Amino acid sequence: MATSKTTSTGQTRSTAKSAGKYYSLPALPFAKDALEPHVSAETMEYHHDKHHKNYVDKLNELIKGSGMENLSLEDVIRQAEGPLFNNAAQAWNHAFFWNCLTPKSQAPKGGELREAIEKTFGSLEQFKKKFSEEAESLFGSGYVWLSKNDAGDLILEQRKDADNPLVDGLSPLLTLDVWEHAYYIDYRNVRKEFIAGFWKVVNWKFVEGRYVGELH
Ligand SMILES: [Fe+2]
Repeated sequence: MATSKTTSTGQTRSTAKSAGKYYSLPALPFAKDALEPHVSAETMEYHHDKHHKNYVDKLNELIKGSGMENLSLEDVIRQAEGPLFNNAAQAWNHAFFWNCLTPKSQAPKGGELREAIEKTFGSLEQFKKKFSEEAESLFGSGYVWLSKNDAGDLILEQRKDADNPLVDGLSPLLTLDVWEHAYYIDYRNVRKEFIAGFWKVVNWKFVEGRYVGELH
């Protein structure tokens, strides 16, 4: 009998082996044109409906016979290597990235997350500046991640390609996908403008929820 569960990243995972499909492409948590003019509906159509879908489809192919069919997607990421790792991580990374975005962005004026950001980076503006610098200087494809460790410390880092902080025991809070497919339709080669647009649509409530442990 098929069972499924939905994680905080919106991944619905079927455990019905006979269906031959272990993971589903999660729906976007907003309308495709909701982030315009910062991210166009056309970009969302390519990024979610084609790129993200392709990673999920490939993951479903590769997980078969891997011995990891019954693991959570997070555990697949922690244990897999090579193409299975790449596609599992990209399936998770994109679902997480969509949750980091919203048309109703409102930076926290107080609260635990803001206090932690100010303690670590000096101010929210300094944090945004440092995060933007990391996003701009990342060579090639990858993501910038804000994560927390078990002690609650904030960690800001670049990771190449599909790499994910989960592999180092960290808990991701916010990410920005700076693969060219994320911005080339809207901004061509000008990644800096895409990064500026990103700050207009950050889902701070999601980031805060992850930081205080309400969203797992
Ligand atoms: Fe992407």
